[in-house]
Amino acid sequence: MSFKDQLNTNNIPKHVAIIMDGNGRWAEQKGEHRVFGHTQGVESVREALTAAAEINVEYLTLYAFSTENWNRPKEEVDALMDLLVKTISMEVETLNKNGVKLQVIGDVDSLPEGCNEALQQSIEETKNNDRVTLILALSYSSRWEIKQAIKNIAKDVKSSILDVEDITDELISSYMNTSKYPDPELLIRTSGESRISNFLLWQVAYTELHFIDTLWPDFKKENFYEAIYNYQQRERRFGKTSAQIISNE
Ligand code: IPE
Ligand code: IPE
Ligand code: MG
Repeated sequence: MSFKDQLNTNNIPKHVAIIMDGNGRWAEQKGEHRVFGHTQGVESVREALTAAAEINVEYLTLYAFSTENWNRPKEEVDALMDLLVKTISMEVETLNKNGVKLQVIGDVDSLPEGCNEALQQSIEETKNNDRVTLILALSYSSRWEIKQAIKNIAKDVKSSILDVEDITDELISSYMNTSKYPDPELLIRTSGESRISNFLLWQVAYTELHFIDTLWPDFKKENFYEAIYNYQQRERRFGKTSAQIISNE
């Protein structure tokens, strides 16, 4: 039986985040250039998005390009930006057909102009869709996001819009790029690396982590369902005891 058939439809996470890793190694294993891996990775984005939509996951956040990825060789960065513009522009029709609303988190102002324009246009053209929200993390890093939030909170305290006592968990969340979305219940990382790489540090405080060896271009819908199935076997305790969770205290 497939993992999809075994899922408990009453316990589907609202928000799944994925660190899409391993494109370069996938290509190198085939004697190809790293960029070939990024191109193939687009197909896996479709797999993940379709899988998420089929089981009614409401938010899918994909880590596509980190702040630190700007330090890669220029040819690779340029190729990635090029791929991004082409893919985003080409996919709008499909996104609309499938009810996908596109959103972005990260320092979009640091993206090349053409890339940012294509992105803003696709966001605009998909804004009325409500089946699933696809959030791309682009030029994103969690420390950058937290730094921005702290600066903005400090400014608002200084200009008396906020009182220091107003600073709660909820207020901090509302200053993050992710303010409109719930925290992810599940984070998947491909390629065998067991690290977070500066992704959603504030938001993953109680997220279930799922690390798999599959390289991103090999990621299929069934990998997504397996991750959800695995998530559903876990007990999320949020600091309480197991007995408390079972008796619903
Ligand atoms: C993930 O694959 C895509 C990006 C980070 C842009 P990588 O390019 O990191 O591939 P590996 O990890 O080097 O194999
Ligand atoms: C994380 O992958 C960033 C993205 C998937 C966009 P990296 O390949 O950049 O992470 P590290 O350097 O191995 O930690
Ligand atoms: Mg990598």
